Amino acid sequence: MDSKLKPLVEALQQGKKAVFFLGAGVSTSCGIPDFRSPKTGLYAQLERLNLPYPEAVFDIDYFRDDPRAFYALCHELYPGKFFPSPFHFLLRLFQEKDLLQRVYTQNIDTLEQLAGVDASNIIAAHGSFADNHCIDCKERMLPEQLKIHMHEKTVNDGIPTCTKCSGYVKPDIVFFGEGLPIEFFDRWDEDSEAIDVAIVAGTSLTVYPFAGLPAECDKKCLRVLINNEVVGDFKLNKRKSDVILKKSCDEMALAIARQMGWEQELEELIKGEKDKFEGKSKKTEAVEVDEKGGKEEKPKKMEEAVTESTELLDSQAFEDAVEEQPADVMSATAKKAEKVAAAIKEVEEEKELEEDLKKLSI
Ligand code: OAD
Repeated sequence: MDSKLKPLVEALQQGKKAVFFLGAGVSTSCGIPDFRSPKTGLYAQLERLNLPYPEAVFDIDYFRDDPRAFYALCHELYPGKFFPSPFHFLLRLFQEKDLLQRVYTQNIDTLEQLAGVDASNIIAAHGSFADNHCIDCKERMLPEQLKIHMHEKTVNDGIPTCTKCSGYVKPDIVFFGEGLPIEFFDRWDEDSEAIDVAIVAGTSLTVYPFAGLPAECDKKCLRVLINNEVVGDFKLNKRKSDVILKKSCDEMALAIARQMGWEQELEELIKGEKDKFEGKSKKTEAVEVDEKGGKEEKPKKMEEAVTESTELLDSQAFEDAVEEQPADVMSATAKKAEKVAAAIKEVEEEKELEEDLKKLSI
């Protein structure tokens, strides 16, 4: 394997930058299924949604008729609970070493950003969950509002609808039948002029126009495929200089890091980010413990809950949401405020008790 990586390692050591072309296979180790793998892929698991054909779940015409299947899936795929893979952190190291030209991704899981890749370096070819719009009048709905609607099952089965025209609201992910973001084409016009290294990973290269990009790379470009199977132009028009690594994305991320002398840095980066991520998850758990009336480790968890809730209430996104949809958001605010007040009261009572005990021991 070492010798196969040699051309890539040499190019990087000469300071040549890489453009990445990513698909769902870079996120499977994070617990997100890909689309087309037999048995484990999302499309093989959608029988329960009674779709006419699996891709219908992401088809704009089907969504217009019946958005329930998409929203059933949306709960499972919504970003927030997944942690990036070693491959995502390798992208961050490429960026830190000034070896990253761009990341073109078909993924909507936003794990590239979570791993610390700058938004300016990422082209989300199939859109993302970062914003939402009504499919009819295009009115915007903020993510905070969308989440409130999605969880309010008693209103319209939890399907977010537009406050202006009652049309269905959809996250800005690109469905079959919709165009790709203009930024994709603009950036590709610039980037495709000069690409030294193209790394294609975790994609079956079946959905166009994305699938056509590796074929558009100049003949002088070093193309690398990291995938469980050989796909697309690497299969149909293999070039002599192509490097084909039929391995898992994470295994190859670690191998590249090792060959570049970045192994320890990658390990430390992942560990540090994991600790931060788990810290955040614990804060969320603290609110849940509070809701269920849990009693363990209260003072510390309560303080964390207070900090988190206060941060949320102070956030600009929350202010914007209040302005746009006072009724929904205000009821959520009231619930949050109740929780904060209860948490503060409990922390204060705990402190008083501590003071009393100290006095008694004197
Ligand atoms: P696919 O599911 O079509 O392809 C994923 C590829 O990654 C397959 O070739 C797998 O064998 C491979 N793979 C899976 N896990 C891997 C791993 N850990 N290491 C290496 N290889 C692995 O997913 P995409 O190509 O991303 O579009 O699909 C493209 C588009 O089709 C998606 O963006 C989505 C979908 O319909 C829209 O929804 C518009």
